[in-house]
Amino acid sequence: MKKFKAFIALDCKTNNENIRIVKNLSSQVFGFKVGYRSFYSKDSEKLLAEIKKNKCFLFLDLKLHDIPNTVTTAITSLSKINPDYLTLHISGGKTMLEQSLITIKKNKLKTKLLGVTLLTSLDRKDSKLIFSEKNTNSLVYKFANIANESKIHGLICSGQDLGNLQLFKKLIKITPGVKLFARKDDQKRVTFVHDALKNGADYVVIGREIIDSKNPLELLKKYYEENKNKDLWTN
Ligand code: C5P
Repeated sequence: MKKFKAFIALDCKTNNENIRIVKNLSSQVFGFKVGYRSFYSKDSEKLLAEIKKNKCFLFLDLKLHDIPNTVTTAITSLSKINPDYLTLHISGGKTMLEQSLITIKKNKLKTKLLGVTLLTSLDRKDSKLIFSEKNTNSLVYKFANIANESKIHGLICSGQDLGNLQLFKKLIKITPGVKLFARKDDQKRVTFVHDALKNGADYVVIGREIIDSKNPLELLKKYYEENKNKDLWTN
């Protein structure tokens, strides 16, 4: 059975609900993303075990950002979990990224490190204030370049940034903030899953549109029926 090139963001209110989503969708999707909300909640160990049991990829979205020594010791502490993907902020610096990669190798982890460029919640004003660069595209490009030079495995990037980042062929690109289906009012401003995957994303991340739907499995099956001929599925 081919799997949808998507990570489902497990951002439900409780980990029991997240576990239900994993049981329900694991045959359909490439993996699951566990972020702050679920990782720091009760029963997160059970959730991680369920993802493992269902042989899906685990994307641990902890966006690590600290001095290199603290980040690398955190990665060593995560060895027991050995996630398939782990995020860290590129703004933590090249040394932090390089040391993180060395730690992955030293601990023989399978983890692929993904750099967060610029949070999409930050606008031109924030970007100028924090990074002295009001052109957010240039800033994202600079961050991607640092990720590339540090040789980490990939990037988290918005659908809008994918064109700009095509040059970084070796970097895995994962795109959140995408929609499966259009609502009347979001035709223009939203990135759709099929566009993101066509424009260079290796995987997308989808959260609320699926986890808040009445029947997540039906929704995915409907999407499959409408898009099975496109290159959105992997073995
Ligand atoms: O919006 P949605 O619920 O689909 O988001 C899914 C996940 O993607 C969330 O866990 C969120 O942290 C992440 N996200 C992101 N950047 C965005 C939108 C969402 O990292 N612009």
